[in-house]
Amino acid sequence: MKTIQLFGFGILTAALLTLGCAHDKAGGGGATTAAASSGATDGKAQATRGGQLYGQHCASCHGAGGEGNDKAPPVVGKAALPLDPPATAKYRKTQFHTARDVYDFTKANMPAKAPGSLAEDEYLSIVAFDLQANGVDLTGKTITPDSLIGIVLHP
Ligand code: HEC
Repeated sequence: MKTIQLFGFGILTAALLTLGCAHDKAGGGGATTAAASSGATDGKAQATRGGQLYGQHCASCHGAGGEGNDKAPPVVGKAALPLDPPATAKYRKTQFHTARDVYDFTKANMPAKAPGSLAEDEYLSIVAFDLQANGVDLTGKTITPDSLIGIVLHP
């Protein structure tokens, strides 16, 4: 299994560019809804859609660029998605070995005030966005619960 090196150089730039993109698209109004219901299966398209969803459902706590703050831990950047739950964690009891672990935790616990309130493909898109923002190249990948197992964050 190939290990993907995360959190390399230039992560924040990538995140900001991704968010910038999502915002441009969100300006389209109706077009956003059409894209959102199309059930994208290409990893990069999923990430674009995920960036919009992240902005709607996650950014209020985790920050516009996923940088985290005193309310919620970072989900983008060097300190994001550590193997072990942060010392302050209230909900997270599990380790993040693969992106599937992140997905399982997120689906069961996030958004913190309405866990499980999004559709499965919306969670997948948001995880795709988060992976891409952290430097994972999604070219030629489709993000599914199974394919997430192959994306190793911490061997
Ligand atoms: C109401 C605030 C809030 C919202 C909205 C929210 N989160 Fe969180 N999130 C938190 C808090 C607080 C934690 C820390 C949980 C703990 O204590 O274990 C957390 C933890 C996480 C973690 C684990 C981070 C780690 O290092 O342990 C991930 C991943 C995550 N959130 C993703 C998301 C995603 C994706 C969304 C949007 C669907 C989202 N969150 C929406 C507050 C929020």
